Amino acid sequence: MNLSVVILAAGRGKRMRSSIPKVLHEILGRPMLQYSIDAVKALRPEKLVVVVGNSSETVSKRINDKNVTFVLQKRLLGTGNALSVARNSLKGPGKDTILALNGDCPLITSATLKTLLKKHRRDGNVLSFLSFIDDSLSGYGRVIRNDNGDVTGIVEDKHATSEEKSIFRELNGGVYIMEPEALDWLGRIRKNSSSGEYYLTDIVNIISKKRGKVGAYQCAPEEIRGINSREELHEITMLLNRGNVFKLMKKGVTFIKPDSSFVHSSVSVGKDTVVYPNTFIEGRTAIGKNCIIFPGTRIYQSILGDGVTVKDNTLIEESRIRSGSVIGPFAHIRPGSIIGRNVKIGNFVEVKNTRVGDGSKASHLTYLGDAEIGREVNIGAGTITCNYDGVDKCKTVIESGAFIGSDSQLVAPVKIGKRAYVAAGSTITKDVPEGNLSISRAKQKNLKKWVARKQSGVKKKN
Ligand code: UD1
Ligand code: CA
Repeated sequence: MNLSVVILAAGRGKRMRSSIPKVLHEILGRPMLQYSIDAVKALRPEKLVVVVGNSSETVSKRINDKNVTFVLQKRLLGTGNALSVARNSLKGPGKDTILALNGDCPLITSATLKTLLKKHRRDGNVLSFLSFIDDSLSGYGRVIRNDNGDVTGIVEDKHATSEEKSIFRELNGGVYIMEPEALDWLGRIRKNSSSGEYYLTDIVNIISKKRGKVGAYQCAPEEIRGINSREELHEITMLLNRGNVFKLMKKGVTFIKPDSSFVHSSVSVGKDTVVYPNTFIEGRTAIGKNCIIFPGTRIYQSILGDGVTVKDNTLIEESRIRSGSVIGPFAHIRPGSIIGRNVKIGNFVEVKNTRVGDGSKASHLTYLGDAEIGREVNIGAGTITCNYDGVDKCKTVIESGAFIGSDSQLVAPVKIGKRAYVAAGSTITKDVPEGNLSISRAKQKNLKKWVARKQSGVKKKN
C-alpha cells in the first residue's frame, strides 16, 4: 500500500514568543520544518502535505518546494483538526497509509521512520506511533497502557494527574502511522473543554476502544524530541551540531572545542584539518586536508584547498581559496573571489569578486574589488581599487609580477602591465604599460629652517 505524509506545522508556537512562525526558526542553516520534509522524502511518499496556519505564505515561500502541497488550517483548533483539514488534499483519500508527524521535531531521521513503518506493518496495526522515555522533560503527552501492556490512550501532560504522571512515564513523540480507516475516526474526536482544541492524540483512545490494534514503539529521545521554546531550540541545535561535528571528527578532523564550532550538515572537511573554537562552517562548504581554521572565523558556501590557513576573525563567503594560501587575521573575502595557490591576504584586507593569481600578496589594509590580479603580484599596504563611480562597477587588471606601492588608488577601469611598478601614494587613472614605473603624486618640497621660522613667529605674537 502506498504512503502519504502529513506534516502538522500550523501552530502559532506561542511558547517561542516570536513574530515568525515556529517552524521557520533556523537550525544550522535550515528552517526547522525542512528537517521533517527531508526526512520523510526518503520514504518516497505518494503525496506530501504540510498543514500551515496564519503565516501560510511566509512558510510556503521559504520552503519553496514543488513536491509539497500546502494546506491552510484557518482556525488553529488543535492537531486533530489539523489532520482533518489535510485529509481532503490527500491523493485518493481512504487508500493510502498515512504518516502524520509534528513539524517541530527536527531530530527525526528517515531510518527511524522506516523502522516504525516496518513494525507497523509487521504487527498489522491500525495505528502506530513513536514514544520515548526521558524523565527530565515535561509538556509531552503520556502513553497510557493497561495491565497487559496494551496502549489504550494518550493523556496530555497538562491534563494528567500527578498519579498518572508517576505511572505513565512513556512520552508521545508525535509521529503516527495510520491505516486509512483510522482517519474515519477523526470526526469522533471531541473538543477538549479546557483548551478548546481537538487533540489528535485522542484518536488512540478511540481506536483502542473499538478494539483496533494500536502500537507504541520506543526510540531514543535524541531521535524525537520536539521544540516548543527557545531553550529547546538551543538544546536541539546543539544535539544536531554535535552530530555534524562528530561525523567529521570520525573522518580525522580535529575540533578543539566541538560545542563552540557550528557546522552545517552539508559541510565536508579533509583529514588533519584543525578547527579552533568560535567558528562557523556553513552551507555547501568544502575544506581540504591539513588546514587550520583559527578562532572567530565564518566560512560560508566556499571551497578551500589543502593546507590553507585562515587566521583569526576572518569571514569568507561564496569564494574559492586554493591550496597553501594564508587568509587573515581580520580579512573579508566576499562572494565571487578566487584566490590562487600560496597567496597571502593579510590584516584588514577586503576582496570582492576578484581573482588573485598564485603567489600574490596583499598583506595589509587593502580593498580589491572587481579585479583580475596575476601571479606574484605585490599589493602594498593601503591599496584601493576604486571600482565604483557611483553608477557602474569597473574592472582593475593587474598583470603578473607587478608591484603596487603602498597607499595607491587604482581608478578603474585601469590596467597595470606585467612587472610594472606603481610608486607609493599614486592615484592611477591611466593604464601603466608593461615594465613601466608610474608615479602620480605632487613633487616633494623641503622648506629650509621652516620650523625655526614658525617658532620665532609664534614667540613674537605672544
Ligand atoms: C504534541 C502532542 C503530544 C506530544 C508532542 C510531541 C497533541 C495534542 N499533543 O504536543 O502528545 O507528546 O506533540 O512533540 O497532539 N499544530 C497544527 N495545528 C494546530 C495545533 C498544532 O498544525 O492547531 C502543529 C504545530 O505546528 C506543531 C504540531 O502540530 O508542529 C504539534 O503541536 P504543538 O502545539 O507543538 O503540540 P505539543 O503541545 O508539543
Ligand atoms: Ca510541540
